[in-house]
Amino acid sequence: MSSAPTALPRVLSGIQPTADSFHFGNYLGALRQWVSFQDDFEPFFFIADLHAISVSHDPKKLADRTLVSAAQLIAMGIDPERSAIFAQSHLPEHAELAWILNSLTSFGEARRMTQFKDKSAKDGEGSASIGLLTYPILQAADILLYRPQYVPVGEDQRQHLELTRDLAQRFNHRYKKTFRLPEPYILKSTAKILDLQQPSNKMSKSGSSPNGIIDLLDDPAVSAKKIRTAVTDSDSVVRFDEAEKPGVSNLLTIYSALTGRTIEELVASYDGRGYGDFKADLAEVVVDFVTPFRDRTRELLDDRAELDAVLKGGAERAREVASRTLADVYERVGFLRAQA
Ligand code: TRP
Repeated sequence: MSSAPTALPRVLSGIQPTADSFHFGNYLGALRQWVSFQDDFEPFFFIADLHAISVSHDPKKLADRTLVSAAQLIAMGIDPERSAIFAQSHLPEHAELAWILNSLTSFGEARRMTQFKDKSAKDGEGSASIGLLTYPILQAADILLYRPQYVPVGEDQRQHLELTRDLAQRFNHRYKKTFRLPEPYILKSTAKILDLQQPSNKMSKSGSSPNGIIDLLDDPAVSAKKIRTAVTDSDSVVRFDEAEKPGVSNLLTIYSALTGRTIEELVASYDGRGYGDFKADLAEVVVDFVTPFRDRTRELLDDRAELDAVLKGGAERAREVASRTLADVYERVGFLRAQA
């Protein structure tokens, strides 16, 4: 594994290990784009395990989920030779920079974040953890440490990226130019994959019923059935119309994303054929996609030593960059330099 400095611009993103499997919403909305950045960028991709404890979590599952997440990233095409893949908690720099950025963020600014408002609404703001409140500030630290050009994420992360840019600018202005202003990279067409049973909601681990969500590591036969029983509408015309036909439009989006065929082309090919054929074909496309993915993920999980080595190598590459940024920050903030 080479860690020679490269001249390529950087790209960085993270995903939380909050489930036993990623789902189609994660994959088509965000993760899929990570793969294509590897040709022209120096990528840093990490598992956000620090973020995962900002809401209640099961400590017995977290480490396994971190490993399964890493295996899935590799199975979907993130190549450890080209990309640094690592666990966020392996780099104390993330939490260290977050502390400094906490001091630059106002309480009101943090509290206005819609994700905080949504997630804290359930049990009331007063009982939400401070970790949930400062979640986007840790995310800003994750990003700014690496000075990336792009941050590929789903639509729901746009506001956190705006906060990240604000904090970068504030730090640069107050101290000295240190951080690069990162740009969000959000795929318009698949930014939001919807729940198969309730196509008014997005597909999400917290909000979807089991039949509304397709996990990448599900039994492929189960996933096929979920497609065949997805909620559509009563007119039986395969047509893209998000307002009138959210269920069918969502299936078309998934179909198009998995096959690379355009929506128009798909609509034309199902002209006069009804939903039965359409869903059966899509079910097959889904099975053909998830079957090898699942096999590959399992294979990777069977070689634990190799997976550990990948994460170790990824953390080393990440540390080279992150520790340098953090040293600049410490100096600029005015901390007494520790003697070696
Ligand atoms: N908050 C992101 C999500 O839920 C995960 C994340 C954490 C992240 N740190 C990040 C994404 C840094 C991009 C960059 O999807």
